Amino acid sequence: MLASRKRSTPLLLALTLIFIVTWYHSRDVDRTHEQRASSVIPANRTLGFGAVVVVSRDGSERRHSLVQAANVTDFDLTIPKQPVWTEGHVQRFINGQDDVQKGSILAWLGHHNALRWFLNSGAETALILEDDVDWDIRLRSIQIPLAASAARQLLPPPARPRSHHPFASFRSHQTQYWGDHDAWDVVYLGHCGDYFDEVTEDGPMTEHQSYNLSAIPHILYRDPTLPDRSDLHPFTQSLFGMLRMPQKSRALHRSKFPLCSFGYAITRPAAERLLSELAPPQYKVNGPRAFDVALLHACNNGSNTPSPTPPWKDPRLHPDPALRRKYPSPGLRCWTLNSELFHHMPGHSLVDEIGESSGEEPGIPPVDLAAQAQVVIRNETTNINCGFWNGAFAFQKDNMTQLHYLQEHVGRQGQCLKEGRKLPRDSIQQLID
Ligand SMILES: *[C@@H]1O[C@H](CO)[C@@H](O)[C@H](O)[C@H]1NC(C)=O
Ligand SMILES: *[C@@H]1O[C@H](CO)[C@@H](O)[C@H](O)[C@H]1NC(C)=O
Ligand SMILES: *[C@@H]1O[C@H](CO)[C@@H](O)[C@H](O)[C@H]1NC(C)=O
Ligand SMILES: *[C@@H]1O[C@H](CO)[C@@H](O)[C@H](O)[C@H]1NC(C)=O
Ligand SMILES: *[C@@H]1O[C@H](CO)[C@@H](O)[C@H](O)[C@H]1NC(C)=O
Ligand SMILES: *[C@@H]1O[C@H](CO)[C@@H](O)[C@H](O)[C@H]1NC(C)=O
Repeated sequence: MLASRKRSTPLLLALTLIFIVTWYHSRDVDRTHEQRASSVIPANRTLGFGAVVVVSRDGSERRHSLVQAANVTDFDLTIPKQPVWTEGHVQRFINGQDDVQKGSILAWLGHHNALRWFLNSGAETALILEDDVDWDIRLRSIQIPLAASAARQLLPPPARPRSHHPFASFRSHQTQYWGDHDAWDVVYLGHCGDYFDEVTEDGPMTEHQSYNLSAIPHILYRDPTLPDRSDLHPFTQSLFGMLRMPQKSRALHRSKFPLCSFGYAITRPAAERLLSELAPPQYKVNGPRAFDVALLHACNNGSNTPSPTPPWKDPRLHPDPALRRKYPSPGLRCWTLNSELFHHMPGHSLVDEIGESSGEEPGIPPVDLAAQAQVVIRNETTNINCGFWNGAFAFQKDNMTQLHYLQEHVGRQGQCLKEGRKLPRDSIQQLID
């Protein structure tokens, strides 16, 4: 008895030592990994996604200025061709239901077309944009690198590869610019506002929410390119006041009530589910009548699932046991960047125009109505500091001299070359240091 215990003591000691050394080592690995994950890394030509995909119908008037804005900002867009949607497509969508909104149906089909293109492309992530969005000239140089760094801090890419694929460890660090793809479903980079609750004619409802960022997963970071507080949308101003956000900062937080779908990042499993299960191309009784509402509902349904999702901690599992390994939650795990990087340009949307031509009353949504006066005074798109609206920074077709000038001074150096707006050059290096 005694003898055997004596013999096992050195063994136990050795094992303990090995354990401690391994533990320290793995801790160090995690720490250096974290540091790498949180540093600011320049954005590539697809803004760190597999592709930037635009929902745009053939012959859309907005396409030309959108493409020019991307050319000056110096990133690549993919605009998948949309099929000609026939009356048959539309009737199948309507499915005998009432409260038909034809403009919304065509927009919904357009989003599906973009999501299908993304899945066929084999890319891991995509940023889906509607073709009437505007953004700041510092989108690629400053805003995207900061936002992606925040995403990597919240959703760190796995330190060790999970898959047994021989190239997995090589690939995972190269391709996880926006954090671990398994840990999130949707990131709203463009929206009409996430005011934490519904917006009515009287503005955002505030009585049911606590407006305490510490109560929800989030990260707060400084972004010098954000408009001054008094230049933000009135609803954004009051939200940021209630959240006690410091000036010139954005928060990346779990989505509460994100409105509109004109700029969202998405992963493959989420795109698959929107096409088949969460936003299928067919009206349901009392179901949503617009794609952005279906997306919002899916986010609401996933809001209790942690992101990232540890396998042992799912509070609400996907209803189909066979799909649980692939899709952890009954809804989507959504994040909102507040304030947004993309906002739709002032004026009628595509949905309104199609609606109008088929006799529907567009009516101005409360969020747009509340910003109308400010848009005229600022001569800028809502919540955008120095944007492309109104043809600022348009260039003559094939005038490469002009384009290269704009790419260098506006796109790369971030100079807002507008009447009365010459800002001191924003030093990107200074920001990273
Ligand atoms: C402008 O951007 C579009 C879309 O990314 C691209 O196809 C086109 O080649 C670009 N034009 C120039 C002059 O760079
Ligand atoms: C940009 O980075 C993402 C993530 O690393 C990658 O998937 C994508 O292919 C890159 N785009 C280009 C144009 O290199
Ligand atoms: C905000 O929430 C945190 C954590 O839930 C709590 O500790 C804190 O007291 C709250 N602050 C306010 C002002 O309610
Ligand atoms: C939310 O999930 C439940 C299943 O857990 C489902 O019955 C319901 O239809 C979902 N709602 C939406 C809006 O997707
Ligand atoms: C608004 O901006 C555009 C583009 O910079 C400019 O052409 C236009 O004159 C401005 N309008 C007003 C009212 O300042
Ligand atoms: C190209 O644009 C520049 C600057 O706007 C202008 O000076 C030049 O005349 C243009 N070149 C052509 C060929 O139109």
